[in-house]
Amino acid sequence: MAPSKVRKAVIPVAGMGTRFLPASKAIPKEMLTVVDRPTIQYIVEEVVASGIEEIILVTSAGKQAIENHFDYDFELDTILSRKNKKKLLEEVRHISELIDIVAVRQKKPLGLGHAIWTTRNVVGNEPFLVLLGDDLVLSTTPCCRQMLDLYEDVGEAIVAVQRVPMEETHQYGIVEGEQVRDGVLRVERMVEKPAPGTTDSDMAIIGRYLLMPEIFGLLEHTTPGHGGEIQLTDALQALAKKRGMYAYEFQGTRFDAGDKLGYLKAVVAYALRHPELKDAFRAYIKEVAEVV
Ligand code: UTP
Repeated sequence: MAPSKVRKAVIPVAGMGTRFLPASKAIPKEMLTVVDRPTIQYIVEEVVASGIEEIILVTSAGKQAIENHFDYDFELDTILSRKNKKKLLEEVRHISELIDIVAVRQKKPLGLGHAIWTTRNVVGNEPFLVLLGDDLVLSTTPCCRQMLDLYEDVGEAIVAVQRVPMEETHQYGIVEGEQVRDGVLRVERMVEKPAPGTTDSDMAIIGRYLLMPEIFGLLEHTTPGHGGEIQLTDALQALAKKRGMYAYEFQGTRFDAGDKLGYLKAVVAYALRHPELKDAFRAYIKEVAEVV
C-alpha cells in the first residue's frame, strides 16, 4: 500500500532567539534579511516548491511580523498600484498568495518538542513535515522534496542529516544506524549532544523532519529534559523504536541562520547565487579577501 500523502508542514518559530540578541529583541530572528527576503520566506518557498498544501506556524508573543509578512497588505497593494510599480506589486502579492498558513500559539517556550506538540489538533492523524524556522538549506532540489521522494519509498519517518567534524558532534543530535543504501541509514539510536568519545557517528540531525502522527502521543509522555525543555530527540528515539525511522543525507548545504556566524555564511552563499547581485558581490568578496 502506498504511504499516506504528506500535505502539511509545521514551522516552529516560537523560540526566544537568545543567540541572536540584541538583533532579535524586537524583530524575530526569522525576519532577519538574507539578501532581499527574510529567512522565513526561503523556508516557506522550500515548502511550496516541495508540493505541500498547508503550513502550520508555531508562533509566540512578539512574532506577529512573521504572520504579517505572508498576509495580504491592502494599503501597500493600493499604493503600489497607484504608483504603477508593477514588478514590486507582483512580488508583494506573490508572497501573500504562496500557500495557506495557519498559526498556533505556543504559550511558553518549553522547547521544540513542545512546540510541535501544540500543532496536534491542526495536523491530525497524518504524516507531516517539520522545518525549523531558522535552518536554511541551499540546494538544487528542495530538501523537503528530496525527503518526500524517499518517503514514497520507505513510508516511515525521516530525519535529514549532514556529516559534521567529530569534534563538533557534541553540538548536535546525532544518529547511529545501519546504512541501507547510499546516503540512507536505518536509525538505531539517537543521542542529543553526545559527550566527546561517546559516539562513532558523525551524522548530525538538521532542521528538517518528516514525522508520523504517533509522535504527538510520544511527546505527551516525554518528560522535560535538558534545560527544562521538552526535547524532540527523546520522542524521535521512541518513534524510531516503535515504527522505524530513516536518516537521510540530503543533497545541499545547510545554514544555521539562528546563529550569528551561520547567518553571515548564509548571506554570502545566497548573495553569490542572486541573479542580479552575484557578479558584483563576487568581485567585492575577492577584493575584501585580498585586503584581509
Ligand atoms: P533554537 O534553539 O534554534 O531556537 O530552536 P531558539 O530557542 O529561538 O534559539 P536560542 O537558542 O534561544 O538562540 C530551533 C527551532 O525551534 C523553535 C525555534 O523558533 C527554532 O525555529 N522553538 C524552540 C520553538 O518554536 N519553541 C521553543 O520553545 C523552542
